[in-house]
Amino acid sequence: MVNPVDIAEPLRSRWSPSVFDTEHELTDEQVTRLLEAAQWAPSNGNRQPWRYVVATRGSASHRALVPHLSRGNSRWVPRASAVFVSIAVTAEEGEEPGDPTYPLHDLGLASAHLVLQARAMGLHAHQFGGMDREGVARDLGVPSVAIVVAGIAVGVRGNPAEVPERDATRDQRVRARRPLEETAYGDRWGLPYAGLAPSGPTTDPESGPEGQRA
Ligand SMILES: Cc1cc2nc3c(=O)[nH]c(=O)nc-3n(C[C@H](O)[C@H](O)[C@H](O)COP(=O)(O)O)c2cc1C
Repeated sequence: MVNPVDIAEPLRSRWSPSVFDTEHELTDEQVTRLLEAAQWAPSNGNRQPWRYVVATRGSASHRALVPHLSRGNSRWVPRASAVFVSIAVTAEEGEEPGDPTYPLHDLGLASAHLVLQARAMGLHAHQFGGMDREGVARDLGVPSVAIVVAGIAVGVRGNPAEVPERDATRDQRVRARRPLEETAYGDRWGLPYAGLAPSGPTTDPESGPEGQRA
């Protein structure tokens, strides 16, 4: 039977933990490898519209970011070794903001590269959008042609006993996905692609309280 383990590494073992180790720090080499992974993402016209503010724990940019986190995210994001604030550039500085469609698409691709590179390096990444983007843009000096999109918290897993139980139990949630019939269409919108082969379960068997997710 086909199941989620049939997708390639590091796609297979990626997930978004919320308990990070507050002692762990990324080396400059690790940060650079992660940025290189993003650097080599494809993009429309090779424009590379992604930008990242690297906010390592304790840095000036980290201090600027943390007050703008949503209440829920403020409980776990600051524990991560670093946050990569992802930003899409839509036009040259000084111009009017441009069509964000491709910049947003390409930023997402670059961030996927970064997240998967993190997993390949034995790290974990958890992306988040819950923050005051305007406040982040203002306090990080982001120009108006650029859109603050998300944060990517990166680090290694910490001890669940060190965080409130409700946060620790988040890491034990069952990971689930829509069935492919809901997201892959064939003859037209809404008509499932007829060529779908048997696919695996829509819940990750390695997740949940009994799961083995590393
Ligand atoms: C753009 C984006 C925004 C997200 N925002 C948040 C967030 O604000 N807080 C949070 O805890 N998780 C956030 N997540 C994480 C998702 O909830 C998570 O990826 C999803 O539940 C699937 O779980 P998985 O990553 O373990 O597969 C976000 C993920 C993405 C890609």
